[in-house]
Amino acid sequence: MKLVLLGPPGAGKGTHAKILSEKYNVAHLATGDILRTHIRNKTKLGLQAKEIIEKGSLVSDDLVNEMMFDEIQKSNFRGGFILDGYPRTLGQAVALDEFLLKAEWELDAVLNFAVSEKVIIDRLSGRRVNPSTGRVYHTRNRPPKKEGICDETGEKLVMRKDDEPETVRNRLKVYSQETKPLISYYQKSDLLHDIHGDFHVPELQQEITALFDKLKLTV
Ligand code: AP5
Repeated sequence: MKLVLLGPPGAGKGTHAKILSEKYNVAHLATGDILRTHIRNKTKLGLQAKEIIEKGSLVSDDLVNEMMFDEIQKSNFRGGFILDGYPRTLGQAVALDEFLLKAEWELDAVLNFAVSEKVIIDRLSGRRVNPSTGRVYHTRNRPPKKEGICDETGEKLVMRKDDEPETVRNRLKVYSQETKPLISYYQKSDLLHDIHGDFHVPELQQEITALFDKLKLTV
């Protein structure tokens, strides 16, 4: 299974990628999570990416492509991957196509999570994360058992710095300018499938399962 999950910030890409990767035992490669791990570990890439991410802008194509090709190669032993947050520009999409062609791999589908701006703002303002593991909660939709505390580790949950309202506005602008054009890019190759991102998680999983059945996509 080789999937790309496309959609604006807060669309639920990470939430569904995690569920699908566990269900089908394929790797979940989330650009944002990988970059945040680099930032935590203060690597050269992390130091370059920190300020860019906090502003809600995009890290350069060259840096992200190199990082993701490395991750995809490492993931192959698990039989496939779900790309969450990559590609995010036309340049990245073209580079990914060239990389897959060389490796004689093909994408099976691109899931486009269509979500209204109102829902996005609600999801991002209520999202809380465990800063060391990246586990994601929502104050109302997916609350931890004890308010503000991670169920798994007992650590204090925080709001992501780039979920502050002003940064969210910039991320939405960047999404419209840089990432939205990928919808027509993948429509041309017949890979694109729209998903009702506004729905609740279980309903959406049912919709995705029905789509996989239609595409005869098992693993
Ligand atoms: P990244 O971390 O990828 O952020 P994003 O794409 O903006 O996506 P999010 O993580 O905000 O949202 P999501 O769609 O995963 O939603 P989630 O499932 O968490 O990237 C961060 C930054 O890194 C970028 O701004 C950029 O600077 C850099 N970067 C990353 N990739 C890059 C690239 N390719 N090139 C260059 N730079 C790059 O859900 C959100 C909340 O809603 C959660 O609280 C969840 O519990 C809740 N929720 C989810 N689904 C539902 C539902 N159906 N019903 C109710 N609640 C829901």
